[in-house]
Amino acid sequence: MLSKQLDRHLIFAMGLLVALISNVESANVLLSGAFGDGSHYFTMAAIGKTLVDRGHNVTFLISDEYSNRATDPEHATIFNFKMFHLPGLKKRMDKIFDQTAEMVFAEDWTIKRMLEMKDTFVSVNRDACESVLNDQRLMDDLAQFDAIVVDVIWMCGLYAKSFLERHRGIENIRTTVLAPMTPLPYIFQEAGSPFITSYQPAPLTSLTSDMTFLQRFRNTMTYIFFAVWGNNMAVTGFASDFVEKYDLDPRLESSVSDHVDLYLINIDFSVEFSFALMPNVIPVGGLTTRPAKALNNELESFMQSSDEQGVILFSLGTYVGSLTKTRPDIIRMFINAFRRLQHKVLIQLKEFPAYKMPDNIKVMEWLPLNDLLGHPKTRAILYHGGNNGFLEALYHGKPLIVMPLQADQHDVAARVIANGLGNRIDKDHLTEDYIYQQVSEVLVNPNYSANAKRLSAIFRHRLTTPASTAAFWIEHVIQHGSDHIRPPTHNLNIIQLYLLDIAALVVFLLLVILFVVRRVLRWCCCMNKLPKSKHE
Ligand SMILES: *[C@@H]1O[C@H](CO)[C@@H](O)[C@H](O)[C@H]1NC(C)=O
Repeated sequence: MLSKQLDRHLIFAMGLLVALISNVESANVLLSGAFGDGSHYFTMAAIGKTLVDRGHNVTFLISDEYSNRATDPEHATIFNFKMFHLPGLKKRMDKIFDQTAEMVFAEDWTIKRMLEMKDTFVSVNRDACESVLNDQRLMDDLAQFDAIVVDVIWMCGLYAKSFLERHRGIENIRTTVLAPMTPLPYIFQEAGSPFITSYQPAPLTSLTSDMTFLQRFRNTMTYIFFAVWGNNMAVTGFASDFVEKYDLDPRLESSVSDHVDLYLINIDFSVEFSFALMPNVIPVGGLTTRPAKALNNELESFMQSSDEQGVILFSLGTYVGSLTKTRPDIIRMFINAFRRLQHKVLIQLKEFPAYKMPDNIKVMEWLPLNDLLGHPKTRAILYHGGNNGFLEALYHGKPLIVMPLQADQHDVAARVIANGLGNRIDKDHLTEDYIYQQVSEVLVNPNYSANAKRLSAIFRHRLTTPASTAAFWIEHVIQHGSDHIRPPTHNLNIIQLYLLDIAALVVFLLLVILFVVRRVLRWCCCMNKLPKSKHE
């Protein structure tokens, strides 16, 4: 009797223990959003904030050269920070951004330069990852995490995971890859999710899902280029030396797929061309979207001074913000075009032009774009086409004029146009008239604003916010692992996957049938002919 009661208590206690262990009450989550700066960091921080709201312990892995993050009041109070040490990293990153900004308006944009850029990226990524793996104290700290979320352009966390598995005997660290940009071929490959070039536009093509024969050809070739280029840059770039040097899982040499549980992609189907997804790929587009906060007095009174006409926002992002120095002629063109508008214009520029601004223009070093997009006086935004800005404008239902400068900004422009959300400005053919025309078109034609409101309503009609969706799925794989959402594609080789063997068999069988039919026909003919010939 007594033992039975004891058993009951034991079973209850064990049940409680299991519940505690399997319940993701508070998980230790490590976020690695590039090195601690830029849009990739901020997209990751949006997930981090939601994880903190849900009771998790969130730590950012950043470079100590961006240690100002750890004192930034908005992040320091909610996140922990772990830092790796690579002297000169910030300088190298700044140089990459300067070079990119310079290249944007250069005439000689070539594949060669793109390949050079890839090499620079790979070498920075390799050195940064080496500083992580060589730091034994840091690696000891990383061993305590239940989950790691890495950015798609720096997946060092996956190497760290393999290191911890092989050298510290740590198991069950769950991993998520976050892709903050438009659909990337190499990520879909890693995820085992199809990328079908008959209707899925490849990066930089500016194509939609409706393509002619020649466009499908270009799309397929571009897809192959980016699948290889991207894989080389972000997946296998420095894997082979690392696998040997640090004794990591050899499968990392060709793919990270065996070390990833979940892929989060920053797209939303309200504005994305439809395509199929594997269950391990979760669309969480609009991670940085949130209601607008009140503006400061200076900005608010400028907004109100615009009367009925309203305000246009103009920003080329933080990286190209020093255009005043490098290309004053371009800034001048924009200002001359804006001068002709009835509207007020708010400009974000790192350095102010020396000449006097027209009365309807206000230049500021930094603009709270999300809050401005949500302001009722804002009519449209002219910007470089970053993916976060696109989804924020969608959230607030504002039309866009996109001047894509690089990378997936061209894809954003294609989506803006295909959805009737605005138009684009071609950076290679800038004139004052052309800028004025493109901007006026979006302001005068009410369809853009109507489409923006309609699609915004579609985007907002959802079960929960994108950041909550992301946090939920990270919890889901911490709790249940990912065997149930793992795609079968990685068990197949390329011949099996694309059914080339089956196609070959079908062709062979058709040939056999053709051969047999021909034989039979010939035999029949002969039978017919033979008696005739006998009669002759
Ligand atoms: C939260 O994470 C930090 C390190 O990032 C660690 O020092 C701390 O112990 C963790 N807290 C809990 C309650 O696990």
